[in-house]
Amino acid sequence: MVQIENKTKENDTEKILALTLKLPLFVLQFEQNKFMLRSINKSASKHIIRGGYYMNYNEFKELVEKRYSVRKFEDKKVEKEKILEVLDAARFAPSAHNNQPWHFVVITEKEILEKMQTVYETQWFKGAPAVIVALADHEESWVRDDGKDHSDLDLGITVDHLTLAATANGLGTCWVCAFNAEKCKVVLELPENVEPVALIPIGYPKYPTAKNKIREELDTMISWEGYKK
Ligand SMILES: Cc1cc2nc3c(=O)[nH]c(=O)nc-3n(C[C@H](O)[C@H](O)[C@H](O)COP(=O)(O)O)c2cc1C
Repeated sequence: MVQIENKTKENDTEKILALTLKLPLFVLQFEQNKFMLRSINKSASKHIIRGGYYMNYNEFKELVEKRYSVRKFEDKKVEKEKILEVLDAARFAPSAHNNQPWHFVVITEKEILEKMQTVYETQWFKGAPAVIVALADHEESWVRDDGKDHSDLDLGITVDHLTLAATANGLGTCWVCAFNAEKCKVVLELPENVEPVALIPIGYPKYPTAKNKIREELDTMISWEGYKK
């Protein structure tokens, strides 16, 4: 079987060749009883940079601009593999002290989805074919000397990974925090130390792009060499 695999190429000569030629460059390798067609340069829209393997900036920007809060979904189930992929991206998020104080409950069954609708009683939420509940474990989160628990930050980052990975997978998501946390704890039978931080409805978006993205201009959010506003 021939598989196309985009992977970091360790061999320096090939890297230099790939970067110099800037042409699609593949190598056919026999690995684990099958032929692998490996791209070793930007042909698959990827750059190979020393020891790493990165999107170029424009692709990254496109991805972050494409993500938007999806509140209308297709009536279509999300494949388990895709959900696992987005959660795998969430897994790689940084966290304070690398404590990874998160846990995700994936809900796809109608009966439990209906229970979750009592936790966030909004019409559009009923159309989500799946919901991921992002939980913070306060017994695992890192707490600074002054008492600041960093789980909200950690959860923010991991959920951001999740939403971007979903976008890359053609899925839509929306952060939901305006839900009834107490009710959520009851529905999911969460222990005292586990806090539901966000509900993430996930599914195929009815509209692939946002109508408009309202954002402040770059220069209004930056001051250089000191705070100015
Ligand atoms: C922490 C957080 C909480 C949010 N909570 C809700 C929510 O409860 N309900 C909702 O419809 N949208 C919620 N949103 C989505 C925001 O309204 C949305 O991200 C913002 O308007 C920007 O739009 P965009 O996501 O389409 O770029 C939340 C977003 C964040 C980051």
